[in-house]
Amino acid sequence: MSLLVENMTIRFGGLTAVSGISLEVRPGEILGIIGPNGAGKTTLLNGISGFTDLVSGRVRVDGQDMEGLPPDQRAKRGLVRSFQATRVFDSLTVLEHLAVVPHADPADGDVREILEMLRLTPYLPHRPKDLPYGVKRNLGLALALLMRPRFLLIDEPSSGLSADESSEISKALASSAARNIGICVIDHDMRFLRRLARRMLVLNSGEMVASGDTDDVLASDSVRRVYLGGAVV
Ligand SMILES: Nc1ncnc2c1ncn2[C@@H]1O[C@H](COP(=O)(O)OP(=O)(O)OP(=O)(O)O)[C@@H](O)[C@H]1O
Ligand SMILES: [Mg+2]
Repeated sequence: MSLLVENMTIRFGGLTAVSGISLEVRPGEILGIIGPNGAGKTTLLNGISGFTDLVSGRVRVDGQDMEGLPPDQRAKRGLVRSFQATRVFDSLTVLEHLAVVPHADPADGDVREILEMLRLTPYLPHRPKDLPYGVKRNLGLALALLMRPRFLLIDEPSSGLSADESSEISKALASSAARNIGICVIDHDMRFLRRLARRMLVLNSGEMVASGDTDDVLASDSVRRVYLGGAVV
């Protein structure tokens, strides 16, 4: 039982954005993905979720090969990419967003729990533009969680958020992992990631620089070199 990525390579013309990357995430586990701007982190998540074509590599969910499946088909099989507020619909209320997700009946206990956890309950009749920024960002995560992922891929959830909002997202991710969802999370905020992820994968220029236990990875010389003068704490 795992999300398994084997030897993934993605090129844009002459640029190798992701170069032979492998990783494994088990249910309930959180893997942090870090690396400088342009390292290939977002491209890696796009390759896993089916938004970008691979030159080579395999993605398996619980042994099932995802090759050739578009993102929505992968989502149906439990592999869900969360796109923050960029992918919400301006004209729909929060409640109407729920109708877009199959089986997300707001009367169900687990749906109510997700809405409560992400502070969305009072905003059900509101449209995204009327939500406080942090709550609007929560909507993207709520929609992803309502798809009942087995594995969730999330890109920079803490960016642009206040300390309180970011700790709210952090709690939501930790509690999702506690409910046995496996999570790959990219972020530039090391404090945020360090609290969440027991394991980390470090990318630089598309290549894996290090991977392993978070404390070991952040202490390693190769990672410190990549982040020289950067934000490792
Ligand atoms: N659609 C695309 N077409 C061409 N080049 C791309 C495309 N998407 C990404 N790239 C390039 O691939 C490399 C990796 O980009 P990517 O967005 O994956 O980096 P990242 O690690 O997510 O960076 P950031 O921390 O800034 O979000 C960069 O050099 C980028 O310019
Ligand atoms: Mg990115």
